[in-house]
Parts: sequence; C-alpha cells; structure tokens
Amino acid sequence: MSTHPASTTSPAQAKLSLLALREKKRSGERIVMVTAYDFPSGRLADEAGVDTILVGDSAAMTVLGLDSTVPATLDDMIVLGRATVRGARRPIVVVDMPFGSYQVSDEDAVRNAIRLVKETGCDMVKVEGGTTTVSRVRAIVQAGIAVCAHIGLTPQSATLLGGYRAQGRSATEAVSILDQARALEAAGASLLVLECVPSPVSARITQQLTIPTIGIGAGPGCDGQVLVYHDLLGITEGHRPRFVKVYASAAETMRAGIAAYAAEVRSGAYPAPEHEYSMPDDELRLFEQAASGSAPQPA
Ligand code: KIV
Repeated sequence: MSTHPASTTSPAQAKLSLLALREKKRSGERIVMVTAYDFPSGRLADEAGVDTILVGDSAAMTVLGLDSTVPATLDDMIVLGRATVRGARRPIVVVDMPFGSYQVSDEDAVRNAIRLVKETGCDMVKVEGGTTTVSRVRAIVQAGIAVCAHIGLTPQSATLLGGYRAQGRSATEAVSILDQARALEAAGASLLVLECVPSPVSARITQQLTIPTIGIGAGPGCDGQVLVYHDLLGITEGHRPRFVKVYASAAETMRAGIAAYAAEVRSGAYPAPEHEYSMPDDELRLFEQAASGSAPQPA
C-alpha cells in the first residue's frame, strides 16, 4: 500500500551545492532542471538524476487547474514546496515566490522568502523580473537566502509583456535583457532562468555571466535547461509552447490504468484472492456466531 512508511524512504544521498552548479558551468557540463510539485514527482526527478528541481508557480496551471500563475499563493507554494523537498534528496530545490509575495517592498520580499525557506526546507527561491527586481534580489541575498532570478518572458507579468510571447527579439530589447542579467548577477543571484529569448541572445548572456543560466525556450547556448514536468511527460494535453519536447505518454498510460481498474471493479475481477486479508477459521466461526446473535430480530 503506498501509504506504508517503508515505501516512502529512499537511500540518503549527498546534496548538490551551488558550487557544484558553478563548476558544471565552468566545465561545460549541462545542468538539468525540471519542475516538480509534490513528493512523488520530487522523488522521481531525484531518482532520474536531475541536478535541480523547480517548484514552479506553474503548479497553479498544471496542478491546480487555473488559467495563469498569477493566483498562486504563498501558502500554495509552501504546501507544494514542502512535499517536493521531502521527495528530493540530492537535487537543489528552488521554490517560486508567487505573484504578490515580493512586488510590494524589499521587506515584504525578505519576510516571504524566509517563510518559504523555513517552512519548505528548500535551498533557494526564484523571483521574476529584471530592473524592478534587482533590489529584491539584493535584499533576499543579504538575508542569507540564495536566489534564482527569471527574466525574458515572465509569466506573472505576461499581460504587461503583451501575452505569452518571446522577448528580446529586437536589438534594443535584447540589450535590455543582457543589462538585466548583469544587474541581477551583480545583486547576488546564483542562477538565472531565461524564458523565451532568442538563442543568440541567451548564448551571449550565458558567456558574459559567471552564474549558470537555465533556459526554457532559450536555445542550446544556456548552461542548462528546464522543462515543466507535466509537459515533458505528456501529462498536459492540448496546446504546448514550441519549446516543449514530450518524452513520454504519461496521460495515456495513466488514463488506461484507471480505465482498466474501473473495468475490473465493475466486473468483480478486482479485488482477487491475492488482494484479500484472511482470518483464522475458529475466529471466523466465533465472529459469525456473534454477528448472527447480535443481528436485529424481525418484529
Ligand atoms: O513556474 C515555472 O514552472 C517556471 C518555469 C517555466 C521556469 O517558472
């Protein structure tokens, strides 16, 4: 039974460090990041050997069924982050700061970042935005918390950016993204996510920074890549952004498994004798006697 404690333990493994990620950048070894949002996905990603896990606010859409990431709350991220951290031993776990948890002031950002780290046990937090986020990154880092910055297409402000579209396609915009990247690194960010940015722009940013860059729709020139768990496993169906590559057909497998279970319940094939618990014959006899003696008598 999956609720048995024995099935929830995994061998202790050494935690990766941010220094190890920097070393990967230096040596040219690509960094693998994937999103995960709960204990089993955290554990599977760890067992698959990823380097870092992002508990993204994309959970608002992939897990909570909402239309955008904007409604995700700090409490949502704490529940999801805490569960994921329990499953992921070796990878560095990054938890997204949701919209509204860092936009108001540096103090607010630090207070909420501290809550995320204390209540989930994650290794670092992620914030979206360039120029306006630089002082938040500096303040959170000064409080002793590692930060992953996220620029390019920043879904929390997609409306302001004109929708879910690539950013930095003109020279002026590309220079602005490069400037933001430099400023975020100078403010103390340890990782930088580049989303939906033309490949030559992200490659140039990657060359110019000492911190690792993680791309999503930003081409092969980044130090690493991130994809959303539900997208790469084929759990999300329907429209997918062009950068998504699907590596499994999990939705089909899951749907077929549930349908097979439903058919067996309906036919009586499940549960079979091997799924049942027995009791000693004499105990059963005593039980039958007691049960028939205590049965309500017809009036
Ligand atoms: O929330 C998320 O999953 C993200 C990734 C798409 C980078 O921010």
